[in-house]
Amino acid sequence: MPDFSRGAAYVDGQLVPIAEAKISLLDWGFLHSDATYDVAHVWKGKFFRLDDHVERFLSGMGKLHMSIPHSHDDLRSILVDCVRASGLREAYVEMVCTRGFPKPGSRDPRTCTNQFFAFAIPFVWIANPQKQTEGLHLIVSRWQRIPPESVDPTVKNYHWLDMVMGLFEAYDRGGETTVVVDTRGNLVEGPGFNIFAVKGRTFTTPVRGVLEGITRRTVIEMASEYGYEVVQRNLPAEEARTADEVFVTSTAGGIMPITKIDGRAIGSGTRGPVTQELQKGYWALHEDPHHTFKIDYE
Ligand SMILES: Cc1ncc(COP(=O)(O)O)c(C=O)c1O
Repeated sequence: MPDFSRGAAYVDGQLVPIAEAKISLLDWGFLHSDATYDVAHVWKGKFFRLDDHVERFLSGMGKLHMSIPHSHDDLRSILVDCVRASGLREAYVEMVCTRGFPKPGSRDPRTCTNQFFAFAIPFVWIANPQKQTEGLHLIVSRWQRIPPESVDPTVKNYHWLDMVMGLFEAYDRGGETTVVVDTRGNLVEGPGFNIFAVKGRTFTTPVRGVLEGITRRTVIEMASEYGYEVVQRNLPAEEARTADEVFVTSTAGGIMPITKIDGRAIGSGTRGPVTQELQKGYWALHEDPHHTFKIDYE
């Protein structure tokens, strides 16, 4: 019996244990970061906002001139199959479309057969449950995010060298994570998350150069329900430093407090009441049938 206990993958139309999942060395997804992907999650045996993730994925593929012989519903069922095979009740579920490789001797991307892969592995936290209450120390990076004129950030992509270099810089400077900036020093996004600053009853979040995160969208929707105002515009670093609260949002962990930026406390230096309210609301939505899809593991 194959061992799916550490995760399951869908490769070449087959479900395989995650450790056995392989792609071709020649795939441009690997050689040129020529790929798009999406990550959804399963919590207590239910997918959260699965259709939103699949929709964003298909829209990204369209922008990159990619196509695969799978419909929205096919993708949903492949992802469900990966989770069911793994048996995981809390899972990180990724779908990937790579360029594939061109005909021998050619460099014409139109000759590539795009490839689709998916996998489910145990849930991944950007901030572990302890840090979800304590908050993270964020470093404003000197690295700039690859500009939106070069790589469309609304297409979820593997152009992560700026953010990975930012992480090394953050660890060197005593921080726990990083946010990269645009050419003018405005905060943009971090390795796998969007950022919000709270001042009074207003949330500000960067509008340009960012992935439109599904968690970011969830926060924007909750804000309107709870009577907060959300402003999407440039977010200068100084504004985040002097905010009442700062938090980051990601499928990999939800809503995570930032209690220190570049060694200085934000607000009281502890997780603030707004962040706490949003965290509570976010996890409560994981029980809401409008946002969830229950997996049948039998
Ligand atoms: C660059 C980047 N920004 C933001 C996010 C957050 O998006 P979501 O809330 O959909 O997970 C991610 C997620 O991985 C990301 O890679």
